[in-house]
Amino acid sequence: MRDQLPDFPWDALAPFGVIARQHAGGIIDLSQGTPVDPTPEFIQKAFRDASNSPSYPVTTGTPELRAAIRKWAEDRLGATGDFDVLPLIGSKELVAWLPTILESKKVLIPEIAYPTYHVGAVIAAAQSIPVGVDAHNWPKADLAWLNSPSNPTGRVHSESEIAAAVSWARNNNSILVSDECYLEFDHTAKSFSVLSQTDGDNRNILAVHSLSKRSSMAGYRAAFLVGDSELIARILELRKHAGMMVPLPVQRAMTVALGDDQHVAEQRARYNSRRDVLRLALEEVGFRVEFSNSGLYIWCTRDEDAWTSVEWLAKRGILATPGSFYGQSGERFIRIAMTATDSQINDAVQRLLA
Ligand SMILES: Cc1ncc(COP(=O)(O)O)c(C=O)c1O
Repeated sequence: MRDQLPDFPWDALAPFGVIARQHAGGIIDLSQGTPVDPTPEFIQKAFRDASNSPSYPVTTGTPELRAAIRKWAEDRLGATGDFDVLPLIGSKELVAWLPTILESKKVLIPEIAYPTYHVGAVIAAAQSIPVGVDAHNWPKADLAWLNSPSNPTGRVHSESEIAAAVSWARNNNSILVSDECYLEFDHTAKSFSVLSQTDGDNRNILAVHSLSKRSSMAGYRAAFLVGDSELIARILELRKHAGMMVPLPVQRAMTVALGDDQHVAEQRARYNSRRDVLRLALEEVGFRVEFSNSGLYIWCTRDEDAWTSVEWLAKRGILATPGSFYGQSGERFIRIAMTATDSQINDAVQRLLA
């Protein structure tokens, strides 16, 4: 299996980091989707207050956390009908292990996608098949991933596109998993949860959510699943055996984070204003922005090889990611993350326009 794993792509980017670091003003690293704005103080406090934690946490989550996830799923995602919830140690572990847990043989992944969907299929010794957005054209498979708003493109699925994916799952008796970790960061398009498109029949449907970006808690490793109760019971059983439980102080922090929307609105406004200023500057220097309607990223091209764009930006001290990291059709695109401070983003604009 090890030799089937892709080369860790970030190694290939390292030389451009060296170039960017030589800029007189230092590097502005927009290559990684890792939040830099502080975790809100009330969340930090909940974590600190729970730091006396001698007993093992429960894999299913505390009753308070389960209730908070359930309420949030109903209010924010529009979940109805029978569904269950399950805390996760960040969502990446779920993405990487789900095909193994579910013994999937064929996994559909978006043709331009977060690389871990493919990695998860490789770990499970399953076949991963890149597919377009239109689920009417999808082949039969055991499992399919949706991701809206998308990493890396910021594209948002319409309600009818999600409904078509739900129909595909029903017609094929297959599992549909919607990775919705950027759902709170809408800008010029409204995103919908898969759970709002099931009419309360959530069989074979799962939604994955993360507090990494929503609440700037990437360091806590805090995420959760919502959806089909039977599937979640299967996943829970294995996770209990494997000791995959969320630390109790993190569960406490998740509970208060989910109970507050104000900090999310503030974070959304921050990302969106960064995207607006950076987008204009990129367009000014010849980049064409595609999608990038919501989420955390700008996806753009100068109709040249992605590495040429990466190098051009690195010489200005700005590090971006080549679109080829996310699939072959990204070869002429770059991804730029809004994960730098406002002042760094303003600096990046000055450097671009200089
Ligand atoms: C689409 C997508 N899914 C999942 C993750 C994993 O996030 P986390 O493990 O922090 O919840 C990321 C991280 O960038 C992502 O972009």
